[in-house]
Amino acid sequence: MCGIVGYIGQNQAMPVLIKGLKKLEYRGYDSSGIAVFSDHLQVVKTKGRLADLEEKIKTDGSINGCVGIGHTRWATHGAPDDVNAHPHTSSNGRISVVHNGIIENYLPLRTELEKKGYTFVSETDTEVVAQLFDAYYNGDMVDTMIRVIQKIRGSYALGVLCQEKPDEIIAVRKDSPLLVGLGNHENFIASDIPALLEYTKDYYLLNDNEIVVLKKDCVTILDMEKQEISKEIYHVTWDISTAEKGGYDYFMMKEIMEQPTAIRATLSPRIVNGEIQLDSIQYTTEDIKNINRIHIVACGSAWHAGLVGKYVIEDYARIPVEVDLASEFRYRKPILHPNDICIIISQSGETADTLAALREAKRQGIRILSIVNVVGSSIARESDDVLYTWAGPEIAVATTKGYSAQIALMYLIALKFGQARGYISTEEIKQLVAELENIPSQIETLLKQEGEWKALAKAHAQIPNAFVIGRGIDYAVALEGALKLKEISYIHCEAYAAGELKHGTISLVEDGTLVLAIATQDALYEKLVSNVKEVKARGAYVIAIAKEGNTEIAEVADNVIYIPQITDSFTASLDVIPLQIFSYYVAVERGCDVDMPRNLAKSVTVE
Ligand code: G6P
Repeated sequence: MCGIVGYIGQNQAMPVLIKGLKKLEYRGYDSSGIAVFSDHLQVVKTKGRLADLEEKIKTDGSINGCVGIGHTRWATHGAPDDVNAHPHTSSNGRISVVHNGIIENYLPLRTELEKKGYTFVSETDTEVVAQLFDAYYNGDMVDTMIRVIQKIRGSYALGVLCQEKPDEIIAVRKDSPLLVGLGNHENFIASDIPALLEYTKDYYLLNDNEIVVLKKDCVTILDMEKQEISKEIYHVTWDISTAEKGGYDYFMMKEIMEQPTAIRATLSPRIVNGEIQLDSIQYTTEDIKNINRIHIVACGSAWHAGLVGKYVIEDYARIPVEVDLASEFRYRKPILHPNDICIIISQSGETADTLAALREAKRQGIRILSIVNVVGSSIARESDDVLYTWAGPEIAVATTKGYSAQIALMYLIALKFGQARGYISTEEIKQLVAELENIPSQIETLLKQEGEWKALAKAHAQIPNAFVIGRGIDYAVALEGALKLKEISYIHCEAYAAGELKHGTISLVEDGTLVLAIATQDALYEKLVSNVKEVKARGAYVIAIAKEGNTEIAEVADNVIYIPQITDSFTASLDVIPLQIFSYYVAVERGCDVDMPRNLAKSVTVE
């Protein structure tokens, strides 16, 4: 949610900032801006996409200087317009600030500053930070930063320039991500790795309230007592091409196609000679036997992955599982038993509500196992145990490979815990593991049918609304399928437990209503077919997803998409593929910006 970059070095800052912001545009894209130093601070900002900023820079004339900060915004305070775009500058033009997060006490601070004679031009919380820096400035930016931090409340990643310190950028973070990139006679700050990759693969991770002073040839990190902190250098292992479109029109399609690789990379290091080995987590058989209840907590699609987890863990390990939305869990005063564990799921590892939920569970003293894609992210660092999904960088706002890798880990946990608790025999494990290992190639087969689903999507692209129904795990996938369709195509789509539809919602089904019916649970197949008949009888157009060999459904549904045979517990991995592709082509057909849907951002670092 909002992307920040900063550059100091021997090259022109402007092109580095723009390129970096392009890599961070997934974090927010309603307005953007840069501030660059030459003999004075030059600020250019505008509403709209980065292309609009580039245009404005061209029109305004050249922006010279080797020090600068940039920002791409997802509006929280104030409309996405030119004035509210970052960077924000103190009234006298001395300080320039980019910010990701929310300053919760900005209103009283603003009133206080207004009394001192400061005038505000924007509606943002960030402008208060720029004015505060100016008000507290005593010639030393570190002192000033410490005073500002002591005054503000909320979440922030800040990059700050001061007119009187032309050779430094000062930065800090709290509950919002910020990395420091280490180059050769140049250094960087950025909200995420892709912005740095063209220049360096070495970076520092920052903890809350560690203050960074960035100069061309050195980086100093200090704590709130001004004591220097020595940091470990991290090294990015993936290549820049992983974060490029690679010939696809959109990142989303590239990432859909990468799912077999993502799942293989997530599963294979943890399956050794047919045995599940959950690397790096410290659970003994005794620990697993003693688990009283599991609380899975997440947001968005990660929450949907958690719902799949509930079905498989309860089935195989017979441990009761509750699945909570992080934004609810953190405030609902959850009752946690000392022998409960909390599984936190997050692709980014930075989602504000999910991080706060983790801290609530930790405060109550229970053990945290997190499933995270971004190595070294806040959630990973604050958990007792971490299982990484090895999906690689995910850029499209709507997750695909991130979700698929998360459910692959849900299966591994379910089987491992089930075996430790004595509910699955060694023979069964062998057979289930073999099925798991086969999933990536089954997805590869499925992906070859992409053209057929494209035609189906084209035919239905103008529908006003749709339903996705399913039972059991199929219902959990229906929720993910419905979210995919609505978030990228703006078609209203509701997921329903198929048996529940008749309790009110079926009244919305009329002639031509599109119903996507997932019918891949053998144990519930006949029940689902009955539900399909119910909606058909009311005029619905039904596209069913069924396992190969289930022919009866073809007699009731208008179209059937077949997935390969697989055990009921693992169907989610296959069912989701046609739902993603159908949603993708509907959105393309409707002319939507698939990778950057309106009003959204990928990394939600505000609550
Ligand atoms: C946003 C993204 C979703 C994601 C959710 C949770 O809404 O668009 O794709 O599922 O955040 O993000 P996380 O990084 O915690 O998985």
